[in-house]
Amino acid sequence: MSDVIAAEQRNDKRIVQIELGDRSYPIVIGRRLFDDASVWSSAGEGDCAAIVTNTTVGPLYAATLERAISNRFRRVIHIELRDGEEFKDAASLNHIFDRLLSERADRKTVLFALGGGVVGDMTGFAAACYMRGIPFVQVPTTLLAQVDSSVGGKTAINHPLGKNMIGAFYQPRLVVADLDTLSTLPAREFAAGLAEVIKYGPVLDPQFFNWIETNIDALIARDTDALGYAIQRCCELKAEVVAKDEHEANVRAVLNFGHTFGHAIETGAGYGVWMHGEAVGCGMAMAADLSARLGMISEAFAIRLRRLVERAGFPVVGPRLGADRYLELMRHDKKSEGGEIRFVLLDEDGHASIRPAPDTIVRQVIDANCQRS
Ligand code: NAD
Ligand code: GLY
Repeated sequence: MSDVIAAEQRNDKRIVQIELGDRSYPIVIGRRLFDDASVWSSAGEGDCAAIVTNTTVGPLYAATLERAISNRFRRVIHIELRDGEEFKDAASLNHIFDRLLSERADRKTVLFALGGGVVGDMTGFAAACYMRGIPFVQVPTTLLAQVDSSVGGKTAINHPLGKNMIGAFYQPRLVVADLDTLSTLPAREFAAGLAEVIKYGPVLDPQFFNWIETNIDALIARDTDALGYAIQRCCELKAEVVAKDEHEANVRAVLNFGHTFGHAIETGAGYGVWMHGEAVGCGMAMAADLSARLGMISEAFAIRLRRLVERAGFPVVGPRLGADRYLELMRHDKKSEGGEIRFVLLDEDGHASIRPAPDTIVRQVIDANCQRS
């Protein structure tokens, strides 16, 4: 295990430490964490806390969270946003600022982001901006947020001209991932998180890839032991990457494995036709095929990953868009440089690198893996 990471299992709690000097923080993973006072000690204390959530998650968990922190703060404000990616915008951000200012929240106020990646990204950005930076705590309630978006300090809102285009790198002071909250998560949201779990194996950890293959049925069944271990391992792997490259100058981009083809599928098929998890799942199978065609991994390894994606319940045949349209869409990817598409490609033994690929080979991948005209 890397020396930047200290994951330990205390009773039924798993703790992963993100090591970023004076911005280090723990991620606590487990069940019944809202009832455990020791979990919240790193959240701080003071005059004011604000729980930022949405109209779906708030009614389920905001009162429970308030009970967990009310002995640490003299008052707890509730800020409820509308639910949906379409509300991850400047208007919602401004609503958070309006409430904080009208409640006279000072610069020691702690924001608690209670929800999925949308609430987490917006609350984190609000914390980065309000009075030039106030502390915040991530309380992720989707699988995607527990394994990915709540960790590592990427915060953002969308702009009409691009997703996540306005944001900041700003780390939370604590992440609390309560597995019990996943019991109310709709199936399609759970699947989106499962695709992100799978991505960590092939790019960073071959043993974890084996473990996912063995435990995929338990993960699909939301077995809390299996989920607890998977979330811990994903957070450890992400912690290692973030400690090396917090601002995504280079290696952090490997966390986008499968997302280049995946975003093209999502956008090309029409937003909402393919679920995000489905598109990333199929995108991983396509990226593995591209890696094999470039001689970076064996064909057998690409087939193994494709089988896992299928067993997880994701389609492995992309929609019929035509190779020209796929290429056009992928040229808009954030990793593209000077119009050249850069893919996250696999090497053997759980490594990945970001590099371009000849259009002719990419076309072969699209022809082999997508519905034909
Ligand atoms: P989301 O936040 O929209 O949550 C999905 C849905 O599930 C929402 O309707 C939400 O209200 C609901 N929900 C959340 N928790 C629930 C629960 N426990 N029970 C019932 N319903 C619940 O979506 P997401 O998949 O969590 O996050 C996607 C967002 O994350 C995107 O905006 C993406 O850009 C961002 N993201 C950020 C990072 C990062 O590093 N910051 C990484 C990946 C994704
Ligand atoms: N989800 C990719 C990252 O945090 O870098």
